[in-house]
Amino acid sequence: MRSAGRHTGIGLALAATLLLLFACHAPPSRTSAPPKQDDRPIATGKTVRTDGGIVVSVDELASEIGARMLARGGNAIDAAVATAFALAVTYPRAGNLGGGGFMMIRTADGRSEMIDYREVAPAAAGPDAYLRDDGTIVPKASILGYRAAGVPGTVPGLALAHARHGKLPWRELVEPAIRLAAQGFTIDEDFAESIAKAADEMRLFPASAEVFLDSEGAPPRVGDRFRQPDLAWSLREIAREGASAMTTGAVAKRLVESVRAEDGWLALEDLAVYQPRIRETLSGTYRGYEIVGPPLPSSGGITLIMMLNFLQAFDVARHGADSPETLHLMTEAMRRAYRDRAAYLGDRDFVDVPVDRLIAPEHVHPWIGAFDAERATPSEDLAGAIQIAPDGPETTHFSVVDADGNAVSNTYTLNYSWGSKAVARGTGILLNNEMDDFNLRPGYTDRRGKIGTAPNRIAPGKRMLSSMTPLFLLKDGELVLVAGSPGGRTIINTLLRIVVGLVDFGMPLRDAVAAPRLHHAWFPDKLTLEEERFPEATTQRLEALGHTLGTRESQGDAHCIAIDPATGMRTGVADTRIDGAASAPR
Ligand code: DON
Repeated sequence: MRSAGRHTGIGLALAATLLLLFACHAPPSRTSAPPKQDDRPIATGKTVRTDGGIVVSVDELASEIGARMLARGGNAIDAAVATAFALAVTYPRAGNLGGGGFMMIRTADGRSEMIDYREVAPAAAGPDAYLRDDGTIVPKASILGYRAAGVPGTVPGLALAHARHGKLPWRELVEPAIRLAAQGFTIDEDFAESIAKAADEMRLFPASAEVFLDSEGAPPRVGDRFRQPDLAWSLREIAREGASAMTTGAVAKRLVESVRAEDGWLALEDLAVYQPRIRETLSGTYRGYEIVGPPLPSSGGITLIMMLNFLQAFDVARHGADSPETLHLMTEAMRRAYRDRAAYLGDRDFVDVPVDRLIAPEHVHPWIGAFDAERATPSEDLAGAIQIAPDGPETTHFSVVDADGNAVSNTYTLNYSWGSKAVARGTGILLNNEMDDFNLRPGYTDRRGKIGTAPNRIAPGKRMLSSMTPLFLLKDGELVLVAGSPGGRTIINTLLRIVVGLVDFGMPLRDAVAAPRLHHAWFPDKLTLEEERFPEATTQRLEALGHTLGTRESQGDAHCIAIDPATGMRTGVADTRIDGAASAPR
């Protein structure tokens, strides 16, 4: 997890308030190319309020590029596509051309859909792809290097979103990213720290070292100008040819040549047959709100709806948002929902998943009956038919709303920070390590959190199960929230915390995003809390209830937008756990 931009609770609230006041005056701390003459000024800050369009992402250059598209008359989808291309340049650890993700779209007329541009397994990869002869996993094989990559979906996905909904010309949306890649941008502290951490693994791959390290193998430093000429070339091809550059054209050819030279699996045929999908969004209700969540291959929508169905049976607001009672209740919801995630969920194009049954309120009735306010349920007790073996980040989310009320909730990723660390030579494109999201060892589920259940086993062309949860929340049919976060399996729980904060505790978005986060995923049977954010009396009580506690420095970074249905005012909130910015045309 990243370390820049963290604050304590009080500091966080203060910082957010100051940023709100100064949002319109805060000078950008990173230099980009000068704006075009016809561009309206853009207001940028941690929290920005507007009655027009707004973009919130992890990077202020990218948010500003998105906001500039809105100022030029583009809609939320145009802004999202331009933001996604910009993040591929300025935030290459997660923003990408070589990965995949989900774009949830809600148009102003109230229709929702999801563009599924998740990676798929290459034709050469079967269920045993990462196993030794003795059935154990080859360490790091699904994480590091060219073999870890699934077939990238980002460029075809963005092109499909644009073809269906975009107003501005495609080239215009790619152009700011080309400029940033060719002319470079100034390295800030967060970028320098992150690349320094990845440098040792980057050195394993000469094509990656050439892009991200200097001739001595050292990572760029704060204040350096960072240019990516090969990536600029790829982006120019994509601007000119559209997605076909990446599926059958010049970029595809360079990419595959490089991967094959390094013994990777991606073949030209894999790229040529890749199809992004338009999927129906998933819907649930929670105390009068409608949850509009991502369908499979995201596990996020189903898992979140199951948890909310459970919580709905209890008076969650009776105790404080951070009280042991509330945390215990939420943890028991998480434990049970993640168990079912492991038992049932996978790519529906390959396995039968009883989605309607899982998200029906009756599905959680037994959980409600079994809930014990005085005792944590051992995860092992829920295993059922799943055999438990004997003992033995990086993604990014951005949110967009335009003046007309079209909205985009987009989470995309290379999986780990800087993905497989492997760049396809000559393209500047970092490849994902999304293959690691499959269940790698069939039948092997252990207490440490390895899952080996059948629905998410590798098969050629199959999408790996994801936790990415780009979300919309509606009240009386009106959009009130656009939200999402990185954080692997923690993502769904981060979204649960935000929804419960808003709905049960009536928190303003800034507080719901700032609220200390918790995570339980069935196995490991451990409740992980953001460190130093919960009082000792709370953690002691949770331990007395039988929870094993762990800590992590921070969980996720949720860049969200709230819309007040009464006034139409939009508040963009960039999570203060990391650098990030909301930008709106003035
Ligand atoms: O799709 C997923 O669930 C993961 N590949 C996401 C990885 C992630 O969020 C890592 N970020 N911190």
